[in-house]
Amino acid sequence: MKTAQPITLVLGATGKTGRRITQRLETAGLPVRRGSRDANPPFDWEDRSTWDAVIDGVHCVYISFQPDLAVPGAVETIQAFTDLAVKSGVRKLVLLSGRGEVEAQQAERVVQDSGIDWTILRASWFCQNFSEAHFLEPIVQGELALPVGQVAEPFVDAEDIAECAVAALTQPGHTNQLYELTGPRALTFAQAVTEIARSTGRKIELVAVPADAYRQAMEQEQLPPALIDLVLYLFTTVLDGRNTPVADGVQRALGRPARDFGDYVRRTAATGIWGNGSPT
Ligand SMILES: NC(=O)c1ccc[n+]([C@@H]2O[C@H](COP(=O)([O-])OP(=O)(O)OC[C@H]3O[C@@H](n4cnc5c(N)ncnc54)[C@H](OP(=O)(O)O)[C@@H]3O)[C@@H](O)[C@H]2O)c1
Repeated sequence: MKTAQPITLVLGATGKTGRRITQRLETAGLPVRRGSRDANPPFDWEDRSTWDAVIDGVHCVYISFQPDLAVPGAVETIQAFTDLAVKSGVRKLVLLSGRGEVEAQQAERVVQDSGIDWTILRASWFCQNFSEAHFLEPIVQGELALPVGQVAEPFVDAEDIAECAVAALTQPGHTNQLYELTGPRALTFAQAVTEIARSTGRKIELVAVPADAYRQAMEQEQLPPALIDLVLYLFTTVLDGRNTPVADGVQRALGRPARDFGDYVRRTAATGIWGNGSPT
């Protein structure tokens, strides 16, 4: 049975951006379908038999792909999903993409060429990688070892990405726009960790390790080879300085400056997730 109000489908609805987008849309009283392998109906990028039921009756889609638009086969999968969306009557696609990734830009073009309305959110590294993803545990333990040097990254707050996505999904004026979303200043990973340490009152260090050693550590953890290649691609090829300049996407989309990394650190330290200490 179709509902009277148009439904927005949020893929990756349990993830860093999708969760925040879903929350905002639901708070606004808008009908949302959660795209997740655990939802009912379930959605799985790797099982196309799940796609039809999830897209039925949907008006707009937020597309957060897994694991990354740069992996082999991603462009074909996005093409197949986009074709189905258009055939099913979807009117707008909002694609979360990665900055500085040539392969991701091919996926962007698929959405841009779909013939329906689109918005591209091309984001830099998320602040929330330090608190809602793989960096959290090492930070709690006091030492984050990464194959990084002195390259600075303008970390973007997932709250800003979510706000831009909701604007694109619900308001006119964002159609056929590509927003490069970054924070307002670039920091090295060491500087980012120093800010977290200062805010928690804890000793936390960033230890730079060679890429080969990082690969070996991931192999010892028996991570899938494709995931290891992706992680090294993101840390070496993409993190080469091409993404250091800040961009104005948040300002263009929302009419206000992007949130600073310091805001994110203060908010997150206050939750206690990084461990006890004496916040400064
Ligand atoms: N992190 C960064 O710094 C960064 C920067 C730029 C771009 N990106 C892009 O952001 C996207 C990730 O977004 P995010 O960080 O908001 O999500 P996330 O926190 O990584 O969460 C992953 C989401 O994807 C879902 N998922 C995992 N495997 C799936 C599958 N096989 N089929 C369907 N859904 C699946 C998960 O849902 P269930 O487990 O519930 O199914 C979850 O909702 C990626 O495309 C990444 O390339 C990330």
